[in-house]
Amino acid sequence: MRPWPSDRVAFGGDYNPEQWPRATWDEDLRLMRAAGVSFVTLGVFSWSWLEPSKGEYDFAWLDEVMDLLAEHGIAVDLATATATPPPWLSAAYPEILPVDREGRTLWPGSRQAWCPSSPLYRDLALALTDRIAARYHDHPALAMWHVSNEYACHNLPCYCDTCAVAFRRWLERRYGSLDALNEAWGTAFWSQRYSAWDEVLPPRITTTFSNPTHVLDYSRFGSDTLLDFYRAEKEVIRRHSSDVPVTTNFMTLSQFRLLDYHDWAPEQDVVSTDHYVVDSLAHPQAELSFHGDLTRGLAGGRPWMLMEHSTSAVNWQPVNPAKPPRGTVLDSLAHVARGADALGFFQWRQSRAGSEKFHSALVPHAGEDSDRFREVCELGALAGRLGEVVGSTVDAEVALLWDYEAQWALAGPCMPSAAVDYVTAAHTVHRLLRDRGVTCDVVHPGTDLSRYRVVVVPTLYLVSDEHAAAVEAAARAGAHVLVTYLSGVATPDDHVRLGGYPGAFRDLLGVRVEEFFPLRVEEEVALAGPASTAGGRGRTWSEDARTTAEDAEALLAYAEGPLAGRPALTRRPVEDGVAWYLGTLPDDDLLGGVLERLLTEAGVAPAARAPAGVEVVRRRSQEGSWLFVLNHTGTACEVAAAGHDLVSGREVGPVVPVPARGAAVVREG
Ligand code: GAL
Repeated sequence: MRPWPSDRVAFGGDYNPEQWPRATWDEDLRLMRAAGVSFVTLGVFSWSWLEPSKGEYDFAWLDEVMDLLAEHGIAVDLATATATPPPWLSAAYPEILPVDREGRTLWPGSRQAWCPSSPLYRDLALALTDRIAARYHDHPALAMWHVSNEYACHNLPCYCDTCAVAFRRWLERRYGSLDALNEAWGTAFWSQRYSAWDEVLPPRITTTFSNPTHVLDYSRFGSDTLLDFYRAEKEVIRRHSSDVPVTTNFMTLSQFRLLDYHDWAPEQDVVSTDHYVVDSLAHPQAELSFHGDLTRGLAGGRPWMLMEHSTSAVNWQPVNPAKPPRGTVLDSLAHVARGADALGFFQWRQSRAGSEKFHSALVPHAGEDSDRFREVCELGALAGRLGEVVGSTVDAEVALLWDYEAQWALAGPCMPSAAVDYVTAAHTVHRLLRDRGVTCDVVHPGTDLSRYRVVVVPTLYLVSDEHAAAVEAAARAGAHVLVTYLSGVATPDDHVRLGGYPGAFRDLLGVRVEEFFPLRVEEEVALAGPASTAGGRGRTWSEDARTTAEDAEALLAYAEGPLAGRPALTRRPVEDGVAWYLGTLPDDDLLGGVLERLLTEAGVAPAARAPAGVEVVRRRSQEGSWLFVLNHTGTACEVAAAGHDLVSGREVGPVVPVPARGAAVVREG
C-alpha cells in the first residue's frame, strides 16, 4: 500500500476550488503553504461539474487542480464525487429520490437526495467512480481515495418501494424462511403473522407502535445496504488502483447512530471520521474525547484520521457560537491525544454562497489578516512538530463496551423509560473516568478483553450469549467488570431473557431483579451505603434487585421509597476478578467515588494527576511516550511531567506549566 505521508501530523481539509474563480486557486496554494497544509480532500460535491450532463465529462479543471497540488507537494484524498447527484440526474430519474416514514418524497435542492437501495443510482455512481479512478489512479498528488461522503447523513432510513423490495431480500437472507422471521419478530403478538414475503413493508408510519424487532431489523438493513454500496465503490476503485488506501469518512460523533461502524471499520484501509462540537451538550469537551476513544476502538487501537472538524463556528445549530481564541488548537490536540494522526477541517476556504457560507473554515471571510488564520498557521506548524507522535498508540487499561445494535434496540418503541439513553449511560462513566485522568478504549463487545484491568458495560440492553460470556470470562480472568442498569435484558432478536433481569449477566453478578422502577424525569432517590461509605442520589432508573449469591455484597442501597433497603450497587468476587453491578444512575460525586474505589482495587492509575478541567492522555510507541496535557480552564496550571514540550519547544520538569486554554505535549524522559 502506498504510504500516507507520515513525517508530520497531516494537516488540511476539504478543498472546493469549483466554488471560486481560477485566480483564487493560486492564492489558495500560497496560503496553503503558509498554513502548513499537507493534504486536501478534493471533489466531494463535484459531480455536477465533472459530468455536467449525462455521459458528458469535464475533467479539465480537476486535472489542473491535481497538477497544482502535486507541484506544491500537497497530498490529495480524492473523492469519488458520488455523495450528491447533479440536478439532471434527479430530473431524469426521480425514482432515485428517498422517501420518509410518512411517505413524503425528499426532493433535490440540498444534498444526498438518493435512495440507498436504488440500483439505478448505484449504477450511475459506479460509472462515475470508474471514470475518476481510471483517470487519476497514477496521478502523483493522489494519496488516498475518499468514497462518497458521510454515508447516511441525510438519506437513511428511506421507506420507498425500492427499499421495500430490497428489505425483503435482506430478510430472506437473514432468516431463510418466513417461519424464522415470524419467530424472531414475535408476530404472534397483535395478529402480525406474515404468510408471504411480499406482505412485509418497511416500518412506515402506522396506527400506533411498530413491532420493535421489525424496526431493529430495518436499522440493520439500512447499515448493511450502504455498506454494500461502499464495498461496490471500493471494488471499482481497486480495478484501477491497487496500492492507494481507501476510506470513507464516518460520523462517529455520538449523536449519529444510523450505521453500525463496527461492521464498516474492517473495510477501511484507514479509519477516518468527522467530528463537530455540539454546543447544546452539557459536556461538549467530554463528548469530543469519547468520540476519539470510540474512533480509536473502531480502528482496532491504531491511529486514525480526523477527516473533518471546524476551526470555529458551524452553521447547523440554532445558534452557532464561535470557538474561543486557541479553541482550534485545543480541540485539534484533544483529537491527536486520542489517536488522530491527521487533522482535517471542513473546509479550506469559507464559502461566500450556499448554506454553508457561515460555517467557519481554515481561511475565513476576513481573509489571511485575521486572528483565526494566524491560529490556523500556528496549528499547521505545530502539526509539523508533532511528527514524532505519528504511529504511536494510546495507553488505556479500561475498556468501555459500545454496541450500535444495543443502542438501536434501546431506542426502540415502548421501552420501560424513554429517559434511559444509551449515549448518556456510556458518556457519564466515560466522562467521570476522563475527569480522573483515566483513558478508556471504547470497543465492541466482541473485542478481546483480556488485556484490560477494568471493563465497563454501560446499559447493554441487548446482548448475545457469546458477548455476555466474553464479559464473564474477562471477570473470571481478573478484570473488574462494572455492569450498569438495564443491561443483558434482551437477546439479539430483542426477546426478553426470562427468569429475572439482568438476564444475561444475572449469574455473573449474583443479582436478580424482579421488577423495574424507572424514575420520573425530575425524580431522584436517596442512596445510602454502609456507615463508612458516602451516600448520594440516584436518577433515571431504579429496580427491585436482590443478591442471589452469598458473596455478592451490597455497597449501596435505596434509602427511601418502595425499594428502601434493596441494593443499588453490588460487588462480587469471581475467581481472579470482580463483578460490580449498578442499578441506578448516581450523581457525579457518588459515581465518581464508586469509580475511584474500583480503579484503586483494579490497580489503574491516571495518565497524570491533574487539576479539574485539565485533560491528560498518554500516547506511546517503541521510541518513547508523550503526555498530552490539555487545559480547558481559564486558569494556568502545572502538571508533573519532565521532558521536551513539543508545543512550547522548551525542556520542562519536574512540572510542565500550561497556560489557560493552552496545551503541552511532553516527550517524556
Ligand atoms: C459534514 C459534511 C461537510 C460539511 C460539514 C459541516 O457533515 O461532510 O460537507 O457539510 O458537515 O459541518
